[in-house]
Amino acid sequence: MRFEIHPSVEEGSRQVAVRIRDLIQAGAAEGRNVVLGLATGSSPLSLYAELVRMHREEGLSFKNVITFNLDEYLGLGRDHPRSYWRFMHEQLFDHVDLPGEQIHIPGGDLQADEVSDFCRGYEEAIRSAGGIDLQILGIGRTGHIGFNEPGAGRNSRTMRVTLDPLTRQDAAGGFGGLAHVPKEAITMGCATILNAREIALLAWGESKAEIVAEAFEGEVKDEVPASYLQEHASVTIHLDEGAGKLLTALKPEDSLARC
Ligand code: F6R
Repeated sequence: MRFEIHPSVEEGSRQVAVRIRDLIQAGAAEGRNVVLGLATGSSPLSLYAELVRMHREEGLSFKNVITFNLDEYLGLGRDHPRSYWRFMHEQLFDHVDLPGEQIHIPGGDLQADEVSDFCRGYEEAIRSAGGIDLQILGIGRTGHIGFNEPGAGRNSRTMRVTLDPLTRQDAAGGFGGLAHVPKEAITMGCATILNAREIALLAWGESKAEIVAEAFEGEVKDEVPASYLQEHASVTIHLDEGAGKLLTALKPEDSLARC
């Protein structure tokens, strides 16, 4: 695992955006698509803003990009103000030239009897796109990646899950109260995420410091699904000083990564 401690969220986000730009441009030069796994939430906001800027000011094209989002709340239609469908369109998709048919987001409005076919189809669509080249992740205070909450198995695939009470509590503000936060979601599984060729996890602010230290310096265990990332061959953990402040084992080369 590589840790990068950035002086600001904007700097860190810019570095990840540059990596995405390089992948997209290398793909375009070779005439192939680039498959991105995307996250929602506050952590990638600056990243998406920077990608939109690169599109507008530098002409970065997303025509050869295929995206798969990590998750969606179950019970929310696309137009719900808190749906991840809406979030992704407002923050990124509406502002770049990514063709709509190349966007994949789990369905929030599926009926109970449609969910398992949908999940199988989502896995199949990722496979037939050639697998995920770069997966963007945030981390929840429960240690979740996607909505793989404590107890999620290392081999899990896209599935219907129950949200942890802490995750629902963290989302309550945006929903106007805990009672309005969905209890379930559809999420890519841990194995789906770990199959990505490269992973960039973003965590900003002191509120993430404890779970960052536990997930990436602690034991690999299913109580902290993000800890599985320790076993992936190509993961970069992008932090600011606040989120990194409880890490004890930053090696000299990691300190050199401090920009
Ligand atoms: C979002 C997702 C979640 C978030 C995590 C952190 O698609 O899968 O795992 O990345 O809950 O959320 P923020 O970034 O809001 O702190």
